[in-house]
Amino acid sequence: MKSGLKIELPVIVLNEKAYVESAGNKGLKLAKICAEVAVEQGVSIAICPQQVDLAKIASSVDIPCFAQHVDAVEPGSQTGFVTLESVKEAGAIGSLVNHSEHRLKVADIDFIITKAASLNLLTIVCTNNIAVSTAVAELKPYAVAVEPPELIGTGRSVSKVDPAIVEDTVKEVKRVDGNSVVLCGAGVTNGEDVSAALELGADGVLLASGVVKAKDPRAVLMDLASGLR
Ligand code: G3P
Repeated sequence: MKSGLKIELPVIVLNEKAYVESAGNKGLKLAKICAEVAVEQGVSIAICPQQVDLAKIASSVDIPCFAQHVDAVEPGSQTGFVTLESVKEAGAIGSLVNHSEHRLKVADIDFIITKAASLNLLTIVCTNNIAVSTAVAELKPYAVAVEPPELIGTGRSVSKVDPAIVEDTVKEVKRVDGNSVVLCGAGVTNGEDVSAALELGADGVLLASGVVKAKDPRAVLMDLASGLR
């Protein structure tokens, strides 16, 4: 990894995505629940608010906030793009990069990882398989988050349905960069899914729908947190 900044591991990273259930004040409420559960349970939880709510949420909760996406552009005459400088100014400590719902070119991923490190921001780069995870590790991001796209939003956890992709990603990424953090995601919904991920060597999980669309997000987060211990 290139950046010196760190977050406490193991970690649950909640991506609020662009769900109706996480827009505006609903997203802020979810972030506050994450912060409360983190303190109550003594666990590490980070949040990726909807982009337009990033500054509001980052200034309202005391847990690490990540942007969901940044563009590989310099600040200046750019319309509708999100720069690393602007997410830092908004209070984020880093960004997701190359989420399977927001893929980037390799050169752009490299640009973002390098620039983020120079700004002391963390990059969590999403990947879809072992080969891509290994290639991304060569770029020295803070973390690689492997997420098989076909399991996203299904409630069928990667750590249970496809343990090999988690185990092999951990092995290959750590072989390239022993300091790299490895997360896994897709379908993670309960504490057992989290503990299975940790047993496979992951440093945490990246998840969305299991919490964002839950009737009782606090109860789900409490259960997820139990899997970190
Ligand atoms: O970014 C997390 C994500 O893609 C996994 O989504 O809904 O399967 O937890 P979900």
